[in-house]
Formats: sequence, C-alpha cells, structure tokens
Amino acid sequence: MPSLDFVPVSGVLGALVDGVDLSEGLDDATVESLQAALVEHHVLFFRNQSLTPQQQIAFGSRFGPLGSHPFVGGMADHPEVIEVITEPDDRVNFGGGWHTDVTFLERPDLGSVLYAVEVPPVGGDTLFADQHAAWDALSDNMKEFLDGLVAVHSPGMQYGEGGYSTKSRSIATRDADGAVVTSVEHPVVRTHPVSGRKGLYVNRAFTTRIRGLHYDESAMLLDFLFRHAVEERFTCRFAWEPGSVAMWDNRSVQHFALYDYRGHRRHMRRVTISGDRPF
Ligand code: SIN
Repeated sequence: MPSLDFVPVSGVLGALVDGVDLSEGLDDATVESLQAALVEHHVLFFRNQSLTPQQQIAFGSRFGPLGSHPFVGGMADHPEVIEVITEPDDRVNFGGGWHTDVTFLERPDLGSVLYAVEVPPVGGDTLFADQHAAWDALSDNMKEFLDGLVAVHSPGMQYGEGGYSTKSRSIATRDADGAVVTSVEHPVVRTHPVSGRKGLYVNRAFTTRIRGLHYDESAMLLDFLFRHAVEERFTCRFAWEPGSVAMWDNRSVQHFALYDYRGHRRHMRRVTISGDRPF
C-alpha cells in the first residue's frame, strides 16, 4: 500500500492527498484509507494525475457503482463520463452556482470525481462549503425548528425550458419537459450515513420549498439557509491545474464552479458515484 499524506487546505474542509497514482489499480487498503479521508475532510484533491476516461471510471468504481445524469449525456464511448466543457465564447458554465449534485433524485449521488484536462490560464476555481459546519453553527432553537422538516427538490429551474444549465452551448441537456414535472422530498437536515454527523441539505439550484410552511415562510427560511450554508467560514477553494482531481462527498458539501475566465476554455471530465436515500 502506498503511504498517503493528507494535508488540510482550510480550517474546515478539504485535504490535498499526496502519494498515490490514481491511474493504477488501487489496493483495498488504499481505497479504505481514501474513503475514511473523504468522510473526514469531505473533499479530497490530487495533483499531477494523468487519467484516461477508462482509468477515471476504474478509479470512481472502487467507491461504488457509477451513476448517469438524467439531463446531461455522457461521452459516446463512456456514457458514465460527462465532459464538463466551457468554450471561450460561452455565456454560462456548468455548475456555476452553489449546489449539491442531483438532489432532485430519490437517491442523489454519493460523490463525484472531477478531472481537469484543460484549464484557463487563471481562474475557474471550484469552491466547496461544509454543510456539517453550517449546521453546527446554528443556534439550538433554530436546529430544533429545522430538524424533522422536509424540503421539495426539483431539476426544473436548472434543466427545464430556459433553465440555467440549458443555456450552456457546450453541454447538451435533454428532457426539459421531464425536468419541469420531476420533484422529490428530502429532509432539510441530513444525517451522514458513515459519520453520523448532521448537515444542512437544501441548495439554491434545486430546493424549491419546505413542506408544511406558507409560501412566504418557506421562501424566507430557504433564502436564509441558502446564504448561511455557504458563508465564507464554511468554505475552501481549489485552483485547478491540468491533471488535478477533486473527489467530493455530496452528503457533506455544496460546490460552486466559478466562471471568471471568459475568453478561455476549460475542459473537465466527471464521473459520479451512486448514493442512497437521504435520512
Ligand atoms: C460540477 O458542478 O460538477 C462542476 C464543477 C466544476 O466544473 O468545477
């Protein structure tokens, strides 16, 4: 087993992992060590990797079966791999707002593995926010009120007709009609199945309302939670280089792909690991 180093990148979440080549078949002990580190740090970063789509699939698959995206197609030869591309003349990027991946599914993805093929000369960082830290920082009275509430999640605002993600010229989305009519319910406060820690589980991209509250009560509470959940004190930020990899735990974080590099190309490849029903 290679000797792995985990170096935290902020006071709350994120660690840079040194000492592993992700293109090689990993032994069980290494996979267990990465799994434990992912639960502890919520997002892991790797530098200087070189992955073919097949090797990225092989790495992601060590952590569980891979998922597919209902509204975004994968590579022709590798449907599990989404090409996350921003061309120099694009007006919007994929993932350009705070979100947790696919919370509109009954069983949202456990995590994602994103690999940088080509990055702009400067900018294009990804931000991550620790939803356990956001929960921990709330008052006891607010925690008592939120715990047990249920929220509705829908892909409509992103993938329905005119939705943010449909405006990307480089990423073809599909089934806009299906996106509008799909919705699921999840707890507002989610318990991590491995660590047992509670975390906020609402996000501006997909959460539409809180069940059992009047419309304006729900809108006001969600607006507070959306802002609170991504306060700077809960975040870390990753500057990509070609060959960088980020692997995040969707049960613990929100993320945001910053679009501050107009006129330049950014090309990433993403696989996702299937998850369980949140509780
Ligand atoms: C995503 O939301 O998965 C995209 C993240 C990124 O491109 O940095």
